[in-house]
Amino acid sequence: MTTIEGPPKRCPLLAGHGPVGRLVVELLTGHADDIDACVRGVQTTIDAAPRDRALLADLDVQRAWFVVAELDGRGVDGVDDRWNDHPAVSAIRQTLGDALEAAVRDRVGAVDGCSAAELPARVRRELAEIDAPAMSTHLQDSGTIENYRDLLRHRSLYHLREADPHTTAIPRLAGRAKAGLVEIQSDEYGGGREEDMHSTLFARSMRAIGLNSDYGAYAGDLPAVTLAWSNALTLFASRRRLRAAVVGHLLALECTSSLPNKRYAKGLRRLGYDADATRFFDEHVEADAVHEQIALYDMAVPLLDQEPELACDLLIGFRAALVLDADVGRHLLETWQDTSTHGHTEGPP
Ligand SMILES: [Fe+2]
Ligand SMILES: [Fe+2]
Repeated sequence: MTTIEGPPKRCPLLAGHGPVGRLVVELLTGHADDIDACVRGVQTTIDAAPRDRALLADLDVQRAWFVVAELDGRGVDGVDDRWNDHPAVSAIRQTLGDALEAAVRDRVGAVDGCSAAELPARVRRELAEIDAPAMSTHLQDSGTIENYRDLLRHRSLYHLREADPHTTAIPRLAGRAKAGLVEIQSDEYGGGREEDMHSTLFARSMRAIGLNSDYGAYAGDLPAVTLAWSNALTLFASRRRLRAAVVGHLLALECTSSLPNKRYAKGLRRLGYDADATRFFDEHVEADAVHEQIALYDMAVPLLDQEPELACDLLIGFRAALVLDADVGRHLLETWQDTSTHGHTEGPP
């Protein structure tokens, strides 16, 4: 069997953008003279930072969480894996994670719980009320290939490792909810075939439109809003008590995937690209129409049947996925409007 990806590539170490990031890089590269002072420096800075959504726009903090989360995932270039188990990193992860969780909760707003039986209607209501930008319609009708490159650069933080963060919930669930999650994840991982893994298909799309598909290749260029979108999920995945937020997050992705992906594929074909570029999107049109039903009726509803006290967490994860994705969409549309007079419209390379 041929291997497509080769050995796992570690994530690049992002340069510190401010005091927190500089301390984290200093620590992880073994350049901290006083490890305890390094941890205290991070804690003092975070203590003075706002405990609200403003933190989601703080590039220093978002980069720092991204690095400590990657250290526990793909690993980080130039960083000894033993740092992942070091008490100093645990303390920093705790401090940053608490601040990020407070910021995400503030951005999501107050959430009322609901019963398992009420969840389907509640999900429909939440989806109808979300203020989402018309990004997929723009790309379908008039997006340039440079717009698509932006979209894939930003989305690569998730799709190049689709759907690892949600997989962390598998051992934390039981019974029908666990079986439902496994059924979805099996498809995300191509049913065990590397060439069909959604991460493999996304990497192919990136290369087809002239991008580097190495994991994290663009992470250092991305704004806080995109890192925060990715970081909310790795935060949920890092904390067992937030397992229902992981489930809610996946439910939201599955509920909002099919139609936009149809539009993304259509826009790429309009620009002259073929299946190499579009298969990732085409694949999600039908797969996620099915996943949406499994996610709701075979995963989320059974979870609330089993553990009704997790309803608020599930809905926080659900809404976080929607609002943070909408924030990224608005950022991209604004960027494209600003540069539309200089946009590129060339076809396939
Ligand atoms: Fe997928
Ligand atoms: Fe899916």
